[in-house]
Amino acid sequence: MTALLGKRIVLGISGGIAAYKSAELTRLLIKAGAQVRVCMTPAACEFIQPLTFQALSSHPVHTTLLDTAAEAGMGHIELARWADMIVIAPATADLMARFAHGHADDLLTTLCLASAAPLYLAPAMNQQMWKHPATQANLQRLQSRGVAILGPDQGVQACGDVGMGRMLEPEAILAALQQPQLLSGIRILLTAGPTREAIDPVRFLTNRSSGKMGYAVAAAAQEFGASVTLISGPVALDTPLGVERIWVESAADMLEATRYAAGLNDIFIATAAVADYTPKQVATQKIKKNNDQLVLEMTRTTDILVTVVKENPKLFTVGFAAETQNLMEYARGKLERKGVHMIAANSVAEGKGFDRATNALEVVWQGGSQSLPEMDKKLLARALMAIISQRYQQWKGMQA
Ligand code: PMT
Repeated sequence: MTALLGKRIVLGISGGIAAYKSAELTRLLIKAGAQVRVCMTPAACEFIQPLTFQALSSHPVHTTLLDTAAEAGMGHIELARWADMIVIAPATADLMARFAHGHADDLLTTLCLASAAPLYLAPAMNQQMWKHPATQANLQRLQSRGVAILGPDQGVQACGDVGMGRMLEPEAILAALQQPQLLSGIRILLTAGPTREAIDPVRFLTNRSSGKMGYAVAAAAQEFGASVTLISGPVALDTPLGVERIWVESAADMLEATRYAAGLNDIFIATAAVADYTPKQVATQKIKKNNDQLVLEMTRTTDILVTVVKENPKLFTVGFAAETQNLMEYARGKLERKGVHMIAANSVAEGKGFDRATNALEVVWQGGSQSLPEMDKKLLARALMAIISQRYQQWKGMQA
């Protein structure tokens, strides 16, 4: 039995070359047990004939706003009420812009406005159009309304460009639709990676964090349906699909960016390895090696997690703990001291944890704990997000 068995899905198709892939998506959705009704924009009909979708879905395709065949002449309202979920694939830049701004100038956008069903968009467009601040702003706006964004993928595009903007393959869209969107509509803020503390214009102090764990948690949170903002120290990783990344360098930068964003979010997850000390003064010129010894005077950085907890009592907060010994004891200590709802503790003894593909976690909270054995950081991140979403929902229920 599949998660889509019996689900009533409106498949919206807007006008992009990827529209041809939606024929296969229709077939896969029906094979997974869903009932599918197809709605096409006029531009989509230029790329592929409605007849193809009529044959595949065994139902007439909807293309016009005022439908004389509908009971009250309002096909969009009937379809909007009928749908358990609306999936738009491909979702062009224009479709995203129109829906982000609440337009209702064709059947598909009107249908989206008229429906309370969960909405999934699989964007497809030229890589430059995807990167454009206007599209990214529309993306943010849609995500903040709880719209789930599936993809896009990167690779060679129909126009010959290479980059982000290809529509996800139909199989990947199907897989994403079958996953539970436990955190749909929830906003998650994360910190990840190391910080760099400048000594002089060419030197800095940092640590071994690669950002892999934090980026995997960000990607998993996005898969769970959350809209995700990632405040990242310097790392050599691509931004996970659909995640907004903010670059920072020092612990002070990370503190400032995090304090600014925290109040806009529901959950804060601190995976970053933040410097605990920073040079008291940064030399304005490159330090010359005139002496045998160099003494650096250091000062404590502000604890970002503690600050965020104090300033945002309505935020659900998760800290990480990197320990070389007494993992559980120190993790419980940090849970109390930092005032967070959960701590995910990892052993960083003997080269573990930092800058590796795998990790293991002991997740602790008031009155409970769960061990997640060593596995790939992507899988581990999903398992951690499952615990976080469960505990968050429970905590939220207690607040009501
Ligand atoms: O990036 P990878 O190579 O994949 O490695 C992953 C990791 C080992 C870095 C990660 O899993 C991890 O353990 N991150 C937390 C590392 C750490 O700094 O732990 P800590 O015990 O020093 O700090 C406890 C918590 O306080 C952390 O959530 C940390 O982000 C936060 N903190 C610490 C200091 C500070 N000034 N501000 C903070 O917010």
